[in-house]
Amino acid sequence: MIHIITGSTLGGAEYVGDHLSDLLVEQGLETTIHNQPDLADIPAQGTWLVITSTHGAGEYPDNIQPFIAALQSTPPRMSEVKFAVVGIGDSSYDTFCAAGKHAYHYLRILVAHH
Ligand SMILES: Cc1cc2nc3c(=O)[nH]c(=O)nc-3n(C[C@H](O)[C@H](O)[C@H](O)COP(=O)(O)O)c2cc1C
Repeated sequence: MIHIITGSTLGGAEYVGDHLSDLLVEQGLETTIHNQPDLADIPAQGTWLVITSTHGAGEYPDNIQPFIAALQSTPPRMSEVKFAVVGIGDSSYDTFCAAGKHAYHYLRILVAHH
């Protein structure tokens, strides 16, 4: 199962998530899309595909902030999880794709330490 976890304000990252889901399903893979991700609903198994834009001064979109906060406060055992991150942003900002970069670095640490 591929858990597609989106962080989006205006729908761009959600659109990318929907499209990637269609392509993965065409390949015979199973996906679940989490547009309001809740860590309690997402098992630490299979593949997590995090797709997030960046807003504010390098911040996560509001809808994914509780998920990231929960990951930081109560990190699950991640040894059975594979992950990938798609960062979406605008290179005119100094904080280009800061949320996607943060998610990638943080998940790498979690997977390595658990
Ligand atoms: C108020 C505002 C702040 C933004 N801040 C950043 C930023 O700090 N870094 C970045 O890479 N992109 C930034 N962006 C660009 C968005 O990440 C980009 O438009 C993205 O496609 C939005 O995707 P979404 O609709 O899924 O949220 C910002 C956009 C807005 C409107």
